[in-house]
Amino acid sequence: MVKITSSTSRAFAFLVILGAVRPPKPPAAPDRRMPHFPRRFFSTSLSHLPPSPPPATVCCIGAGYVGGPTMAMIAQKCPHISVTVVDLSQPRIDAWNSDELPIYEPGLDEVVKACIGKNLFFTTDVEGAIAKCDMIFVSVNTPTKKTGLGKGKAADLTYWEAAARTIAAVSKTDKIIVEKSTVPVRTAEAIEKVLKRNCSDSTVQFNILSNPEFLAEGTAMTDLANPDRVLIGGKIEGQAGQDAVDALAEVYANWVPQERILRANLWSAELSKLAANAFLAQRISSINAMSALCEATSADVSQVAHALGTDSRIGPKFLNASVGFGGSCFQKDILNLAYICECHGLKEVADYWYSVVGMNDYQKSRFVKRVVSAMFNTIRNKKIAMLGFAFKKDTGDTRETPAIDVGRGLIEDGAKLAIYDPKVSEEQIAMDMEGLTDNITCYKSAMEALDGAHAVTVMTEWDEFKAYDWKKIYGVMQKPAFVFDGRNILDHEGLKEIGFIVYALGKPIDPFLKSAEGA
Ligand code: UDX
Ligand code: UDX
Repeated sequence: MVKITSSTSRAFAFLVILGAVRPPKPPAAPDRRMPHFPRRFFSTSLSHLPPSPPPATVCCIGAGYVGGPTMAMIAQKCPHISVTVVDLSQPRIDAWNSDELPIYEPGLDEVVKACIGKNLFFTTDVEGAIAKCDMIFVSVNTPTKKTGLGKGKAADLTYWEAAARTIAAVSKTDKIIVEKSTVPVRTAEAIEKVLKRNCSDSTVQFNILSNPEFLAEGTAMTDLANPDRVLIGGKIEGQAGQDAVDALAEVYANWVPQERILRANLWSAELSKLAANAFLAQRISSINAMSALCEATSADVSQVAHALGTDSRIGPKFLNASVGFGGSCFQKDILNLAYICECHGLKEVADYWYSVVGMNDYQKSRFVKRVVSAMFNTIRNKKIAMLGFAFKKDTGDTRETPAIDVGRGLIEDGAKLAIYDPKVSEEQIAMDMEGLTDNITCYKSAMEALDGAHAVTVMTEWDEFKAYDWKKIYGVMQKPAFVFDGRNILDHEGLKEIGFIVYALGKPIDPFLKSAEGA
């Protein structure tokens, strides 16, 4: 019943931008590798040169969840750098230039407001921006392939290749190209071929770097301002590669301590991003696997997680059992990682990583089964309130949210869903639940969604859900009133005292639920 969903793909076509004007490159520049970066960018051995850097210009292709916040942070921390963010989507660019930004991210509005029009620009003039800048970040989406070879697993690099072709066609001066999008390992090799073969000026040099983004949505601005590390991969075995890495390191050095700026070879950096997401997701699948065993044995997953997390070798983060991980990255990147393993003949390694996604799917379908069996094996025509639809709190992003698969499962069993999320629009929910909207009503307040409901399912860990007047909610719901906490955020004992029948992931099962299952 629960299926793997993939990120919504978008139609694209490149356009053009404006950016800072720079004098044309002299025909025989002394250093062909990086003629447009200030001398201080090159290496510490040149630090005796006078520190009189010209204003540097960077652009970013892709004004999404990654490109927008990352560039806003660079603009804020580097007032001497002109930052232009380009995107094919006119509505998205219009939104960045308006009072209502296209993405909700705490702290982002303030930074954009402070920099926009000064050293931060959003435009659809892709070619103009590329032509005029020294360094190009590429942050276009790399969704899972929907058709053809590697379908459902491999990363679709169509947009990346399109970006590379545009860069090649427009570039008249040397460029540093920075991979921000998560890409399969050795993508830089393919991109380099596209760039070299498509640039009419054979003297133009392209230096490709991998600088994967580790920000998490909802905390993107604090993650960017205070990163655990910044990883820069380049062809560090050669001088040109080292210089390019130094140039980018110099940008981050405006606010990130040197010891947190890690240098690596290109392939290590590309692979590290996939590996980091796979490791994080693997922790969630591990604790979710434990949650199922806890329910079977009357252990408590929170206590188990606490015991695990206090072991300094394991650490406390990313051990919250949940209805499943979502977001644009984890599933996509693990599938891609596993596919790469397959392509290298490493079937066992691939299967290991596939199982992390398999466990996530199991957790979502397990949750649906709990709801149905608890409610006397029938939810036909029952109003089930869904609190939260985003894949995590503090974002309006719904990509791969577990709410989609759980919602589908409940509707397949006949439920009528009443959805409330503080940041997700009705239009977005309609797109995500295409074909099922007859069974869904979206509400602007939680109380309306809960009024007359037989059950409430918590899909996102929004703080406001904890602060609700649950006695009042009990009063407006049908009886028995069920709470299915897919995030383990509510006060379960308090809810039971009020009269709710409570199911919480990985917690000892309520006797009422056990008897409903015939256990
Ligand atoms: C994206 C990738 O999905 C992810 O793998 C990577 O790690 C970072 O970049 P995100 O920023 O969340 O993540 O994606 P999204 O919000 O979809 O933004 C991508 C933007 O690129 C969109 O606004 C899209 O219009 C734009 N785009 C895409 C282009 O401007 N040109 C293209 O050819 C393709
Ligand atoms: C993730 C990575 O954390 C980030 O480094 C990378 O750049 C992009 O992908 P993001 O998807 O934005 O970031 O959010 P994250 O906080 O990692 O959460 C992903 C999913 O895991 C969410 O659905 C979240 O609810 C879930 N999760 C997280 C759990 O279920 N339990 C946890 O303990 C932590």
